[in-house]
Amino acid sequence: MSDQTAIGVERPLRVGVAGVGVMGSNHARVFAGLPGTELVGIADPDGKQAEFVANTLGCTAVGDIDALLSLGLDAVTIAAPTHLHRDVALACIARGVHVMVEKPIASTVDEGHEIITAAKRAGVTLMVGHVERFNPAVEAIKDAIRDEDILSIGITRVGPFPPRMSNVGVVIDLAVHDIDLIRWFTDSDIVEVQPQLSSAVAEREDIALLQFRTASGVLAHINTNWLTPFKARNVTVATRGKYVMGDLLTRQVTECFGFQPDGSYSMRHLSVGHAEPLRSELLAFLRAVRTGAAPAVTGEEGVASLEIAARCLASRPIAAPAVRKGPRAVAG
Ligand SMILES: NC(=O)c1ccc[n+]([C@@H]2O[C@H](COP(=O)([O-])OP(=O)(O)OC[C@H]3O[C@@H](n4cnc5c(N)ncnc54)[C@H](O)[C@@H]3O)[C@@H](O)[C@H]2O)c1
Repeated sequence: MSDQTAIGVERPLRVGVAGVGVMGSNHARVFAGLPGTELVGIADPDGKQAEFVANTLGCTAVGDIDALLSLGLDAVTIAAPTHLHRDVALACIARGVHVMVEKPIASTVDEGHEIITAAKRAGVTLMVGHVERFNPAVEAIKDAIRDEDILSIGITRVGPFPPRMSNVGVVIDLAVHDIDLIRWFTDSDIVEVQPQLSSAVAEREDIALLQFRTASGVLAHINTNWLTPFKARNVTVATRGKYVMGDLLTRQVTECFGFQPDGSYSMRHLSVGHAEPLRSELLAFLRAVRTGAAPAVTGEEGVASLEIAARCLASRPIAAPAVRKGPRAVAG
């Protein structure tokens, strides 16, 4: 279905979404409102959910990826559960359909490589949904540190347990966002990992304190858990000339600079955009589809972040209490 010269210019791009749960229904909503794009259909084996999303957005609901592809599509977002990413992506790629796959790219590094190889061979665009890069607060931090000598990065991503537990822990579900941000902020690979993991309540790790060193010499740490009663997402970056602090939820980004020998310094709030990150991400994907240029987050970058997450999980046994104390105590 790919025709790089005509799509999106002479005719709208025909797009679909595979998996319309929490994330995929948002992809479908955003696609439905993008100019030069037609949300043709969505696929989900949960018929009730599929019908609900399709009726709300005015597109066709089908039960599986083959039926979705038979509608004739240029591009598909894959937001099915992670363990299905490989099979759904390969089905799309085999039909010459461009693919935007939610993070993490796949369940394993090998499966991620399979997707990359197939996409290259077929000449289709493959982008990975590391949506946090499109958070305007993250973009403001990236701009603030662009020509700086970065020394260290600290990221906190904590919150309560998700309503439905998937089969992954906090490293694959949450920390992978921040591993990607550390690689992106530093334009460098992570070469050393020092993870501390614990499963206080869940079967999988629900607390992770991860330390890293990049090839460029930056030290970084991620503090993530599902044991905090409220969501928090904070980033700090120390450079030789600045200290940048960003709240990714309230989108406030502040920098301290002009350090003086007497300990004084200047401080300013940075201007931060207000675009919806998912909209910016999907626009970037469709731009890559239309132009054939490299996408904003490549398959290789998705695999690199997954590989670091896998190293964190592989290198240390998960510390758990000798006798699990059971679920968290709830008052009342
Ligand atoms: N970028 C982010 O911030 C972010 C946030 C949440 C989830 N995600 C990712 O999105 C993906 C989905 O997560 P979720 O939280 O939306 O899960 P979810 O369980 O809410 O939704 C998954 C949907 O996929 C459907 N599904 C199952 N098998 C399918 C198949 N063979 N074909 C098509 N659909 C199928 C399910 O019925 C369900 O409706 C995961 O890979 C997750 O890591 C990313």
